[in-house]
Amino acid sequence: MKNLSRLNPYFLKYKWHLILGILFVTGSNYYGILIPQKIREALDLVQNEIQSLKSADPALQSGLYERLSQTLLWFALIVTGYVILKGLLMYAMRQSLIVMSRLIEYDMRKEIFNHLQQLDQSFYKTHKTGDIMARISEDVSKVRNYIGPGLLYGINLVTLFAMTIYAMLKVDVELTIYTLLPLPILSISIYYVSNLINVKSTLIQQQLGKLNSTAQEAYSGIRVIKSYVKEDWFVKYFQGESEEFKKRALSLAGVEAWFQPLMILLIALSTLLVVIVGGHRVYEGSLTAGNIAEFILYVNMLTWPVTAIGWIASVVQEAEASQARINELMDIKPAIINTNHSVYDIRGDIEFRNVSFAYPGVDIPALSNVSFKISKGQKLAILGKTASGKSTIGDLLLRIYDIQHGEILIDGKNIKDHNLAVLRNKIAYVPQDVFLFSDTVSSNISFGVADADDLEIKEHAGYAAVADDIIRLPSGFDTLVGERGVSLSGGQKQRISIARALLKKPDILILDDALSAVDTTTEQHIMQHFNAALADKTVIMITHRANNLLNYDKIIVLDKGTITEEGTHDELIQKGGFYAAVYEQQLVQENL
Ligand SMILES: Nc1ncnc2c1ncn2[C@@H]1O[C@H](COP(=O)(O)OP(=O)(O)O)[C@@H](O)[C@H]1O
Ligand SMILES: [Mg+2]
Repeated sequence: MKNLSRLNPYFLKYKWHLILGILFVTGSNYYGILIPQKIREALDLVQNEIQSLKSADPALQSGLYERLSQTLLWFALIVTGYVILKGLLMYAMRQSLIVMSRLIEYDMRKEIFNHLQQLDQSFYKTHKTGDIMARISEDVSKVRNYIGPGLLYGINLVTLFAMTIYAMLKVDVELTIYTLLPLPILSISIYYVSNLINVKSTLIQQQLGKLNSTAQEAYSGIRVIKSYVKEDWFVKYFQGESEEFKKRALSLAGVEAWFQPLMILLIALSTLLVVIVGGHRVYEGSLTAGNIAEFILYVNMLTWPVTAIGWIASVVQEAEASQARINELMDIKPAIINTNHSVYDIRGDIEFRNVSFAYPGVDIPALSNVSFKISKGQKLAILGKTASGKSTIGDLLLRIYDIQHGEILIDGKNIKDHNLAVLRNKIAYVPQDVFLFSDTVSSNISFGVADADDLEIKEHAGYAAVADDIIRLPSGFDTLVGERGVSLSGGQKQRISIARALLKKPDILILDDALSAVDTTTEQHIMQHFNAALADKTVIMITHRANNLLNYDKIIVLDKGTITEEGTHDELIQKGGFYAAVYEQQLVQENL
């Protein structure tokens, strides 16, 4: 129960739900207990009256009979009243306890989601999406199962047991002991059966997850599958997995089939004992027939709670395991910590001083001893082969990771001393792998700006040379893109992403190969806007093209994480290295 103690603050927060819930449970059980007692009274009354009726003067019989039926009607009304009260209190108990569990579930999900938003790339690198999703959905549900039904039946069990056994003992101690004898066997066997059911359900869930992802892959990869004529192979594979699912489901059904008969058998045993032992007592004259009926009703009342013991035990066990996984997640501290909370503008001076950096869990450094400096308004181009560390520079400027050696200075101040929110708000970064949300084009463009109006959105789409493309879409700027919308070309996505970045009116703009899928004419168009509108902004262009459309103040060439060339366009052409080679090759291609 150590892990579940993390839930205590929630119970404290919703203490009134809990306290009222306990009161309602107790009240409902109190009226429940009164019912068998009233029925016993009624039965005993009938038995006695029948005796006196038989021996009475025939002239008086109909009068006595009349009186008896009226009394019985009263009993019936009283029992009905108890049942209604019990029902109302049960309703109130569910309203307080189950509602509490839903409120706590909501709080937990919100907190976990918030926490996940705080965590950084290094966390997402080491944790699978499916695993994270499972914690926020399944694990929270399992804990909710304990807080809601688990706790409810637990409290119900304790109060009902205490009251029923007290009432039984008052009637006959020995009979009570005989009646209760089979019940522990019942709850232990239910515990084992429930555990078995849980294990089997988990296996089914896993297989279902596999089926789902197989199906999803088949749909999203349908073009590849068809072009490689792999349809039959996929169908066979899916059939195999479905077969396994069926096997597991049938195995669960087999265990579940035991549940009911086992319960009925043991209850019948209890009832049998009541009749045999109680019958002797009635014969001796120490109990009445009404007592037997009363006891049988008690046994019936105890059945469900006793069954629930086993169930509660396995629910608590599962919740404990789930809460452990949630706690583990919640205890992970973000690696990037913000210490500055003031709000200010960024000028745009950038300096790398002997920066070395290796990704978490990787030995080979992505950058080694990199130094360069650009001032506000300057334009920097970064070139290099793939895996030379270009994108890493972009990641580091947004402080997605912290470096191990050296210093990154922005406006002369160490990046670690900047307000992270200011930093990320003032720098616009167009990543290499463009991501668009399943939303309208217009919402995708205005993603970084809460109060952008339509005119601004259209204007900036124009700057990114994508407005004409968007207008031609089925619903223009309101077209849905992404998974449930139209599919866009790589170049269109890149330009929408650029529009999104420009709309932020950033102080520093970083483009990571963001024009790779855009043709040269369109690139020139975009660059014209950059030259005009971003004259006083710092721009870093990670690119594989060696043109000088942006009049770069500085160009650096990276190779295996180190700077191998540095200078202006003319200087690097003069130098005749990597840059010059790329440039020459490009000229040849353009002439072709
Ligand atoms: N998230 C990451 N985790 C581990 N290694 C990475 C990660 N991103 C990049 N790398 C590695 O760091 C090196 C530099 O990568 P990157 O900066 O993306 O190169 P480029 O953008 O020049 O192609 C490569 O060896 C790459 O494999
Ligand atoms: Mg890259």
